[in-house]
Amino acid sequence: MRIILIRYHNNSMNIPYLLVRNKQKQKPSQKQKTDYWAGTLDEKWITKRVVIDMTVGLVMTKQKTPHQNKQHHPVLLESVLQVLSPKAGQSYLDLTAGYGGHASEVLDIIGESGSATLVDRDANAITELKKRFGDNENVELLHTDFVTAATGLIRKGKQFDMVLADIGVSSPHLDMPERGFSYAREGPLDMRMDQQQATTAADLINTMSEDELTHIFRSYGEEPRARRIARAITTHRPINRTSQLAAIVEDTVGKRYVGGTLPRVFQALRIAVNDELGQLSLLLTVLPKLLKPGGRMAIISFHSLEDRLVKQFIKQASYGLEATLANLTKKPIKGSKNDLHPRARSAMLRAAVK
Ligand SMILES: C[S@@+](CC[C@H](N)C(=O)[O-])C[C@H]1O[C@@H](n2cnc3c(N)ncnc32)[C@H](O)[C@@H]1O
Repeated sequence: MRIILIRYHNNSMNIPYLLVRNKQKQKPSQKQKTDYWAGTLDEKWITKRVVIDMTVGLVMTKQKTPHQNKQHHPVLLESVLQVLSPKAGQSYLDLTAGYGGHASEVLDIIGESGSATLVDRDANAITELKKRFGDNENVELLHTDFVTAATGLIRKGKQFDMVLADIGVSSPHLDMPERGFSYAREGPLDMRMDQQQATTAADLINTMSEDELTHIFRSYGEEPRARRIARAITTHRPINRTSQLAAIVEDTVGKRYVGGTLPRVFQALRIAVNDELGQLSLLLTVLPKLLKPGGRMAIISFHSLEDRLVKQFIKQASYGLEATLANLTKKPIKGSKNDLHPRARSAMLRAAVK
């Protein structure tokens, strides 16, 4: 008999495993099937393979999905651990701690003699991090953007054995309609990672010129119909809801292209609202100063422009006699197309050592 153990999350997040027993004589009862299917089949990230396993298997324990748990599944976890190579007693800086997925794995390894500084500019993420790590006196939480955090830490003379930046939005961002990140969920056109920031997506959409919007969609979204979409937006303003913007995009590009266009338009707008490329460029200029000699850094990006910035930075920093870093990843480590986590499919990890 074969036991398939499907791990949706790492164990330290206290989320139960889903056990599926395969190739057994006894067929799952209709109720067992229904329990499972009702609970998880609507989750996009269930791969075909898992669903096939499920149809021939018996669900031994019921499982909450990551979505239901509002937890964040760490992307490229094994590769991150491999390149950062954490050891007991080391220090860790997580510049985009999110819901603490990577952090909890690293903390497990560095143990009580280790220490961690966890940064996020999202108030919800900080609240969750406080719940998870607030009791750990070796964990420091910083609610700010990573450029401000990095410069503050450098000013204090702090250096770390490991630094991680897992750039971009978290799944909970996309799941919460009120945050306005997702074209699939009706909500205000907000998209701010830091809710204290003044400018929202609606502000950009309602005030920028056709040329400026075209630039955003073209450069950050690589959207071929950028000009037409920008023009449609300027003629239909004010636009304050995700559904309004999605409908305008659909009317402009038609049903045939809307599926590919919506993610590009929303991603481009999000990058602009949060100045994501500006933040990353500034971070890269100071990053080596945050590493101890022998310290390791890893950056996960999800956008070709971000990956290009990281690649160029590591290339320059590891060049010649004056090199400050050695490259650990000649090519980016990529997420698998079959990964259970949809974000992982476009993830690119690069790493270097000081
Ligand atoms: C992809 S999630 C990180 C997930 C995390 N690695 C985990 O395993 O839970 C990215 C997080 O980085 C945060 N973030 C993005 N850009 C940031 C910035 N410039 N400064 C600080 N936090 C940022 C977002 O708010 C989000 O919570």
